[in-house]
Amino acid sequence: MPFNRKILITGGAGFIGSHVVRRFVKNYPQYHIFNLDKLTYAGNLENLKDTSEASNYTFIRGDIVDQTFIDELFAVEKFDAVIHLAAESHVDRSITNPLDFIMTNIVGTVNLLNAAKSVWQNPNSQSQTPFLFYHVSTDEVYGSLGKTGLFKESTPYDPRSPYSASKASSDHLVMAYHHTYKLPVVMSNCSNNYGSHHFPEKLIPLAINNIKNNKPVPVYGKGENVRDWLFVEDHAAAIDLIFHKGKIGETYNVGGNNEWKNIDLIKLLCDVMDKKLNRERGTSEKLITYVTDRPGHDLRYAIDSSKLQNELGWKPSVTFEQGLEKTVNWFLANEEWLNNVTSGNYQHYYEKMYSNR
Ligand code: NAD
Ligand code: DAU
Repeated sequence: MPFNRKILITGGAGFIGSHVVRRFVKNYPQYHIFNLDKLTYAGNLENLKDTSEASNYTFIRGDIVDQTFIDELFAVEKFDAVIHLAAESHVDRSITNPLDFIMTNIVGTVNLLNAAKSVWQNPNSQSQTPFLFYHVSTDEVYGSLGKTGLFKESTPYDPRSPYSASKASSDHLVMAYHHTYKLPVVMSNCSNNYGSHHFPEKLIPLAINNIKNNKPVPVYGKGENVRDWLFVEDHAAAIDLIFHKGKIGETYNVGGNNEWKNIDLIKLLCDVMDKKLNRERGTSEKLITYVTDRPGHDLRYAIDSSKLQNELGWKPSVTFEQGLEKTVNWFLANEEWLNNVTSGNYQHYYEKMYSNR
């Protein structure tokens, strides 16, 4: 079957990106999905081993910071659309090494915008759909809430970590290309995701891994900080909907309406893990260890996703209890994946899969 759309997804070997790639490859056999990923420590082709042989899927290893590479790739492939997820994504790493975040999240995004602008102005003669640049962003750009209130699309930006400042810059640049050059863009800002294939430096997978291995579970400060958790497959569904139905030039907030204090969330996870591992109730909680707080730690994030719900009809498909259960089950069933990503063995997966092609 000939493809009717060439879509570039960046960062498709990462946590959220792999769910988006899997969904698009499976649900849209008429689209040719290209996954461009540098395979940093967070990128892992094992995340897509069920997708890699699909006839509408192509993996490209490359760095969005490399302007020449990006320009040549777009000139050759003339994509019809971009869904941009590639980023440095961990707040703690941005505190120790901000420059990586400036390069990938800001310079990399500008490289993609410039290449996208060229293709949009000079499209493939076989293109059947108008060009679209979809930028995937975060609720952290809005800063930190007090005890009440929700982030709306109109909330002023107030980023407070090098990570959120780099994402805020990229958001502004995406909107600037729309206003200045009329590049067709759409954007979404999502709250904290959780689910399968989550890299175990982030709170939920780190806690699952440590509880499983009877290691301390580090809770920053007093554990009073609040996050709004969304199951990753519901984020991927929102991205699918916004990509197909979102209004050009608009941004959509995506969130779980599911706020948890870190300490309450960790205690819930300890309970779930005790049951799964047949431990006496209260055993895993003993692993909770309060540690020095993250510098500049944002107190509370919470999203108002009513625009997405009312205008495009999105809603989360699972409750938090269901999502957490699925997540814990996945991590316990995929010990090899966990061992590979914590030991760095996943790099070998790339060599194994692509060295003889
Ligand atoms: P992740 O760190 O798991 O994955 C990032 C991917 O980008 C990796 O596969 C990595 O190899 C790739 N990458 C990094 N630098 C690159 C470069 N220079 N060139 C090409 N590829 C590169 O991140 P994630 O958690 O899946 O987040 C994906 C996107 O969603 C990010 O833009 C992030 O800001 C945003 N986001 C994440 C969350 C969340 O809770 N994880 C919430 C809202 C928004
Ligand atoms: O809100 C969306 C953002 O969510 C995304 O843009 C980021 O890419 C993603 O990493 C995530 O950022 P957070 O900083 O909120 O996620 P993290 O899992 O690192 O931390 C969640 C909360 O748990 C936060 O308040 C810090 C705390 N924490 C984290 C770790 C890793 C701990 O208490 N202990 C830990 O060991």
